[in-house]
Amino acid sequence: MEYKNIIIKIEDSIAFLIISRPKALNALNSDVLSELECALYDLENNNDVKCIIITGDGDKAFVAGADIKEMLGMDAIAAAAFAKKGHRIIRFIRKMQKPVIAAVNGYALGGGFELALACDIIYASENAKLGFPEVTLGIMPGFGGTQNLVRVCGEKVANELIFTGKMISAVRAKELNVVCEVLKDKDSLMEKALETAKKIAFNSPKGVAFAKNAILTGVNMNLSEALDYESTLFGLLFNTEDQKEGMSAFVEKRKAEFKGK
Ligand code: CAA
Repeated sequence: MEYKNIIIKIEDSIAFLIISRPKALNALNSDVLSELECALYDLENNNDVKCIIITGDGDKAFVAGADIKEMLGMDAIAAAAFAKKGHRIIRFIRKMQKPVIAAVNGYALGGGFELALACDIIYASENAKLGFPEVTLGIMPGFGGTQNLVRVCGEKVANELIFTGKMISAVRAKELNVVCEVLKDKDSLMEKALETAKKIAFNSPKGVAFAKNAILTGVNMNLSEALDYESTLFGLLFNTEDQKEGMSAFVEKRKAEFKGK
């Protein structure tokens, strides 16, 4: 697929997926969603990629939401299909074996905040503003916001943010455990995201993928079932080359070279 609204760069096993629709502050229309879906699928299946960083082009916005101009003309069926298209992407990110880092610069509103929330790690620059303005538009969050925010911050905080539509700063988002770290500007934001991605890329892809699966699947189980699930995945890792390599390297006092097999 030829991309018109996103840019993909792959360097040293790290993929940068840059949403680039500057005239609309990187807002997500149907075309951007199709491109995102296709690109994420390709990156998941690209053996040269171990970690993905999603960011927005320019300094002003990560993503200023779903495209309001496109949504204006939608009927109920089209709007539900649009939400499902967004859901396919956020579900896919959660199911991907490869970790996805959101580097949030500027506005992350509505669908943009929802995209960031679907990622495994979020870093934000000091100029980031995050929020769900949907109720100011006569709608509600539709790309998973009502479900994912409550799971990260709890019901009361999710209620306050979603019912008021207010924007919060990166510092407040860190206090609410939405953001892992706040960086001074876009350069330091991208440096931090890259540093983390490189650390992840150095580790066992199988170990990282199984841990991601255990965390995301287990959180929706009761603790006893989740521990059973963890022990099953832990056991399965002992069938992998990564486990043999990682433990042999430790015993032989050398650096492990993981193949993700
Ligand atoms: N959809 C479509 N176009 C958008 C957009 C969006 N979400 N956000 C910004 N743009 C466009 C503007 O219309 C404007 O285009 P024109 O120059 O053609 O008028 C351009 O981007 C620049 O925007 P502004 O002039 O408004 O920039 P600003 O600096 O004055 O304001 C802003 C920035 C506060 C982010 C403001 O643009 C804004 O409030 N945007 C809308 C944010 C929003 O409501 N997002 C939620 C959308 S609904 C949603 O996402 C539903 C869901 O859950 C799936």
